[in-house]
Amino acid sequence: MAIPPSYIQELVARNDIYDVVSRYVSLQRAGRLYKGLCPFHSERSPSFMVYPETQSYYCFGCGAGGDVVKFTMEMNSLTYIEAIRFLAQSCGMPMPDEDDGMAKLKSRIFQMNKLAARYFHNNLNSEDGKNARKYLRDRQLTDKTIVNFGLGYASNSWNGLTDYLHRQGFQDDEIVKAYLAARGKNGNIYDIFRDRVMFPIIDLRGNVIAFGGRRMGDEGGPKYLNSGDTPVFKKSNGLFALNLAKKSGKDTFILAEGYMDVISMHQAGFNNAVATLGTALTSQQAKLIGDYAKKVIISYDSDEAGQKATRRAVEIFNKEDLTVQILQISGAKDPDEYIKKYGAQRFEMLLEGANNAIDFSLAKLKNQYDISNADERVEYLTKACDILVDINNPIQLDVYCTRLSKETGIGIESLKTQLRRTRKRRYRKQENKKEKEILRSGIGRNIKIDYREKGNTVPKAFAQQEIICALVRDNSFYNYVKDKLTPDNFTDGDMRRAYTVFVNLIEQNIPVDYSTLAYNLDGGVANTLARIFANNADIILTQKDLQMHIENLLTAKLSRSEASEKSLDEIAERLKLMREKKK
Ligand code: CTP
Ligand code: MN
Repeated sequence: MAIPPSYIQELVARNDIYDVVSRYVSLQRAGRLYKGLCPFHSERSPSFMVYPETQSYYCFGCGAGGDVVKFTMEMNSLTYIEAIRFLAQSCGMPMPDEDDGMAKLKSRIFQMNKLAARYFHNNLNSEDGKNARKYLRDRQLTDKTIVNFGLGYASNSWNGLTDYLHRQGFQDDEIVKAYLAARGKNGNIYDIFRDRVMFPIIDLRGNVIAFGGRRMGDEGGPKYLNSGDTPVFKKSNGLFALNLAKKSGKDTFILAEGYMDVISMHQAGFNNAVATLGTALTSQQAKLIGDYAKKVIISYDSDEAGQKATRRAVEIFNKEDLTVQILQISGAKDPDEYIKKYGAQRFEMLLEGANNAIDFSLAKLKNQYDISNADERVEYLTKACDILVDINNPIQLDVYCTRLSKETGIGIESLKTQLRRTRKRRYRKQENKKEKEILRSGIGRNIKIDYREKGNTVPKAFAQQEIICALVRDNSFYNYVKDKLTPDNFTDGDMRRAYTVFVNLIEQNIPVDYSTLAYNLDGGVANTLARIFANNADIILTQKDLQMHIENLLTAKLSRSEASEKSLDEIAERLKLMREKKK
């Protein structure tokens, strides 16, 4: 649905970016902007900036940027329309005439998924499901488990489910959008899940949001087939059995790799197990686990891939306020096999003995040094600090510092000093990276080289960005610019689009602010704009600047087609070369 620009402007005006962001992030004033710790990535020193003037934000650490609507979307995992509704509600504005397409589609998908889950489950109990029943029995699942997880069977048919959903009044388009069917070359749709045991994925409200399907034999495509992303499902956010683990009321969760591991564990009484959906753990999933548990035991496969995934998961969890432990399974490839081989009791013992990830690394480290030797002791401490520097939880950190101090006889204070030094070193590394990023992305004026050098595309890239920035910040510049530039003068596709949209709106007498522009551009361009505003935050752009940029743009040497093929990376590369030559 199209929302009129005037509505968005009103909404943005009533939801000041500072007010909205500061509900989630503690912001400090720094001149004309505000600084805080970025809510979209984990960091210790603030690189997240809020610019009241353009009503935008930008993080120099992770590149997240946008307006208050984008912020609301990202912060709460909402669609554009949902974010608009959210903001409208919070400031008491009515929604514009909406057809509510997305909300309707979502509710249709929930209905379809629910029907599909029932359909699969009923199949399992029909003649058609004989093999699937045998398969599950061979894998030692009880009827109770099957019902508890709502397992089912997708028949070996191209249209079993689609026909059924058609009869229930659903259209081809909706079924495809639910990822329950795909469209063939002839335009007809066909079932995606065929001849598979079906695992419904259920959210915390009890909605079926997606499916995983396992083939039963050795042939017939990939072992598991999972729903792709749909309006109600994002694979990287989902967790299998989170609904059940939450109900367990336990404050420790077990994180496994596979559906079957989780199901086996639940059947054996460990009803606090969850799994990701065939992808590596994301920080969203880690946060989600952290919302319900204080401790997580990573219980991945014992093979190399599983161990590698464990290491990555530990890193991700360390950024959350969670105690992490690692389960080392030996004698079996995964928890499912372990429980079958050795029983639930031994699995429980394994769980109780699980090593804390940091304990584990520290113990390993300690083995490598003779700490009665002064030199080795120092080396041990330095390395230990490298491990401890990742701990965000101050209580946990204290525990380890105390322990290290006891071990080595070095005072807690000097340990903490050492830790601060390690942290600084890390921080400096990040800073260097950031600096490169900034160099790459703008602030050309800080680089003392002659922009007009032959063949130099740098001024063009910057000039265009600066022009857009100036225009959006002060629409009245348009009077000055309009006879001098047409969209065709812009060699950078993103900026050309931005300028085209700008002209379009302004010619209709619609004032253009960042949000209005962002709404009419795709996400990538909007993000670039946020970055440009960030880079220009403390720079006043005058008509003289504009004049210079327009001249640069119109007189630069490269032909347009040539220049537009150059990526910013290439430009940065060339910039670097020129700089070195100057030295
Ligand atoms: N997976 C997937 N696609 C595949 C293989 C695996 O999406 N082709 C995902 C599934 O979520 C699976 C998890 O990765 O549960 C772990 O894979 P694997 O260890 O191979 O499967 P198990 O869960 O152990 O299943 P099974 O015991 O049935 O082999
Ligand atoms: Mn497995």
